[in-house]
Amino acid sequence: MKFFLDTANIEEIKRCASFGFLDGVTTNPSLMARENISDQAARIEEICSLTEGPVSAEVIAADTEGMVEEARALADIAPNVAVKIPLTMPGLSATRSLADQGLAVNLTLVFSPLQALLAAKAGAAFVSPFVGRLDDVGMDGMDLVEDIVSIFSNYAFETEVIVASIRSPQHVLRAALIGADICTVPFKVIEQLASHPLTDKGLAAFLADHEKVAAKRPHPNSH
Ligand code: G3P
Repeated sequence: MKFFLDTANIEEIKRCASFGFLDGVTTNPSLMARENISDQAARIEEICSLTEGPVSAEVIAADTEGMVEEARALADIAPNVAVKIPLTMPGLSATRSLADQGLAVNLTLVFSPLQALLAAKAGAAFVSPFVGRLDDVGMDGMDLVEDIVSIFSNYAFETEVIVASIRSPQHVLRAALIGADICTVPFKVIEQLASHPLTDKGLAAFLADHEKVAAKRPHPNSH
């Protein structure tokens, strides 16, 4: 399973890259706004220089023509840009046109298996089901991922499933068990994945035992 970081924050991206498992980055207008970014192109260019993996950059236009125009400008920023398009009817038309031009499209804001099926049929490279937001309205977001993975496997679609709107390690665990291609994870959840209270407790005990023996050992200069 690939790990993308769901952020527009450069420090988080650099830290995740240092762990060796940064397979890509996803951004969206809200993540850009959180970082107070006015020059989206400059930030996308910087992020693209920090990973060889795909970097999703989202269009703002709502009509097909506007989406295609914006997407082409975003794709010109760097070869590893994946253009993020919302799953609407104009978005599906834009996806077909951009896919035919050889661009990688990430169809976003996906909340049903049939939306995902349409995304694959339209030629999307990626589809992003938002699991946390479905949980928020009393549904089980991971059921959606399970359905999409089954449908794509039934028909051998090459569209990769990015599990998005991840809120907890449980989402990542279930995505891995289902066999989703990618999880895009907020940095906070990466920290939660790495930490375990028994690791901290075990380490503290090892160090305390080491100190006890070290305290009894005679100092090299004493007689
Ligand atoms: O990748 C999509 C993600 O950024 C949305 O997350 O927590 O706003 O639902 P959230």
